[in-house]
Amino acid sequence: MGICFNEKSNSFKLDAKDTSYIIAIVDEEQFLGHVYFGQKLPDDDVNYLMGLEESPFVPSKNNRNRMSFLDSFPTEYSTSGLGDFRESCLKVMTKSGITACGINYVTHKIYSGKPNLQGLPATFGEEKECSTLEITCLDKHLNLEVILIYTVFENLDVITRSVQVKNCSNEAIQLTKVLSACVDFDRIDMDMITLHGSWARERHINRRSITLGKQAVSSARGESSHQMNPFLAVMDKTSTEDAGEVYGFNFVYSGNFIAQAEGTQFDTTRVVMGINPEDFAWNLEPDEEFTAPEVVMVYSNEGIGKMSRTFHDLYRNHLIRGQYKDKKRPILINNWEATYFDFDTEKLISIAKEASKLGIEMLVMDDGWFGNRSSDNMALGDWIVNEEKIKGGLKYLVDEVNKLGMKFGIWFEPEMVSPDSDLYRAHPDWALHIEGRTGTLSRNQYVLDFSRREVRDYIYDSLRKILNSANIEYVKWDMNRQLSDVGNAILPPHRQREIWHRYVLGVYELMERLTTEFPQVLLENCSGGGARYDAGMLYYSPQIWTSDNTDAVERLKIQHGTSLVYPVSAMGAHVSDVPNHTVGRVTPFETRGFVALSGTFGYELDVTKIPQEDRAMIPEQVTLYHKYNDLIRTGDLYRIGNLFENPEFDCISYVSKDKSEVLVTYVQVLNRPNYHSKRIRLKGLQKDAYYRNEETNEVYSGAALMNGGVLIKGLWGDFKGKLIHFVLEA
Ligand code: GLA
Repeated sequence: MGICFNEKSNSFKLDAKDTSYIIAIVDEEQFLGHVYFGQKLPDDDVNYLMGLEESPFVPSKNNRNRMSFLDSFPTEYSTSGLGDFRESCLKVMTKSGITACGINYVTHKIYSGKPNLQGLPATFGEEKECSTLEITCLDKHLNLEVILIYTVFENLDVITRSVQVKNCSNEAIQLTKVLSACVDFDRIDMDMITLHGSWARERHINRRSITLGKQAVSSARGESSHQMNPFLAVMDKTSTEDAGEVYGFNFVYSGNFIAQAEGTQFDTTRVVMGINPEDFAWNLEPDEEFTAPEVVMVYSNEGIGKMSRTFHDLYRNHLIRGQYKDKKRPILINNWEATYFDFDTEKLISIAKEASKLGIEMLVMDDGWFGNRSSDNMALGDWIVNEEKIKGGLKYLVDEVNKLGMKFGIWFEPEMVSPDSDLYRAHPDWALHIEGRTGTLSRNQYVLDFSRREVRDYIYDSLRKILNSANIEYVKWDMNRQLSDVGNAILPPHRQREIWHRYVLGVYELMERLTTEFPQVLLENCSGGGARYDAGMLYYSPQIWTSDNTDAVERLKIQHGTSLVYPVSAMGAHVSDVPNHTVGRVTPFETRGFVALSGTFGYELDVTKIPQEDRAMIPEQVTLYHKYNDLIRTGDLYRIGNLFENPEFDCISYVSKDKSEVLVTYVQVLNRPNYHSKRIRLKGLQKDAYYRNEETNEVYSGAALMNGGVLIKGLWGDFKGKLIHFVLEA
């Protein structure tokens, strides 16, 4: 059991693989204090770390300075209004207008396994893999129960957290803030890493110093967003990709979030993560409960790289579900960049015919097949096949594609409605809106009110009719705008601010229905590219479209940043045509292939129109995919070169779990004169084993490859790439 309660020290010790996390119950009032988070400790009692024998002392010894205690105590879960002036995790509004709250320990339970979070995505694990601690606390004054839930994964450096709040009083109370995790670090001299971007430039890495005051990333857009990702890592200033302590926090949620590090007056740092309190309120009637989504905390003592590999292992094995969880995904060709809205049955079949000859395994029909959708100005919500375009009907098209030996996939944008649609004309009130105010359009569309059951039922029904009408084996679930005008005519005023979260719960509910009723369907999430690239979505879809930017060079950065948290097995990545539609860059077809291999792999181009020499390369790329995908999907990722730090090259490698093979992907972004070869030091190999370069048959020890390196030679020109495969020499 990875969790124990020490009665002598009144503390809980949570042991993950090489990590300890310690919580103590202190003072007569039973405050819950954070003692330690880091490298595994053998000790049972390290409560001295909290310095409670020093001034201002605990309230039972010095109630005169109760406030000083509360404002400096390393708390496990902060509350508001009683004297801790750092960021609170819990805030309320009572009927009498009181916002203060404070919680103290009451009881706890420890058990094997991990509970589900009702209606929410969460990591999972078997009884033998993880154990859970539930600490029940109470605000006696409000009769508000707060259960802090922790699960440790015993073979990974992972601890997850969530919080349940229950109203045990006999009058309603409003929660105005319920964050999911709080960690008080005893130092401030640290850096933080967050992921930022915009449309077509998602998850670029930003590293900065933590300083006094609050530094946060957040979303108030109704989705996790292009702009900021629900991830935060704090680390020693000296920590690098391969060395030093790093603490990663990731939110398993797809809506508004906040992730913040706060440097305090005593040079400590409080990290919090949870649902963004901006515009949030949740009404709790007597006996009602609210569950805050899960935060995953990862500890690494070997730099950022190990933190990422831990996230990858956790998400590949304990978050992603379904038939494709551990499987190679079909190589797909998507018609979006090939045709945009200008396609019909004949065009799609001509693409499929050519693609099937080249080894491509699935045709995905993107936006434009339904209602009178001839541009992005209309028809969202009218999920009825447009038979003027799809002549002969959907079943005919799918059957024809199947006859070519290919699977068929389809695009939907279930959460949206165009003002110019039959659905909107029939039910204008089904869109999120504020009575009497002009609605804010984006891409000429409104957001359907997925907090409403009847809206979800209607949409689900139209989706399932389509999915049942033909042999559809893949769905791309898109979401092309963010939420505004968040209101409806259904909920009473005191529940209106719940819509943001109810909306996300509604999306989850529909995805759960879809994946349960159609388990054979491979679901790929998407949101204007990668605006909903989060762990919540990975619970429903084993892959997510990483970005609308398919340029190989831009993708190096986007995929690199994404890989800080999310596994390569989940990154939608396609080879597209040049000049690239987003940035106009021309890169070699071969390099585009190398970059897309570090993902789910597919094509996004008109295969009937690209140059013959590019087309001729596709069967070779297909072979590479089949040869290397198991290694790429399941291996350990080591980042070697980083465009954020050196704009000349990017290099990553995949090492199989048994360390018997390694694949190196190298892309020379800009060539330099007199720069004929570059030496790359590999990582993660067995130092005393020998590895053979499959191309040259040269054999080197793991130690030589890691300490001396491999020479990358003969790349002439910009944007040239190389794959190098080493196998263990028998
Ligand atoms: C979004 C997606 C694209 C494509 C279009 C269709 O932008 O990210 O891949 O599906 O919508 O409208």
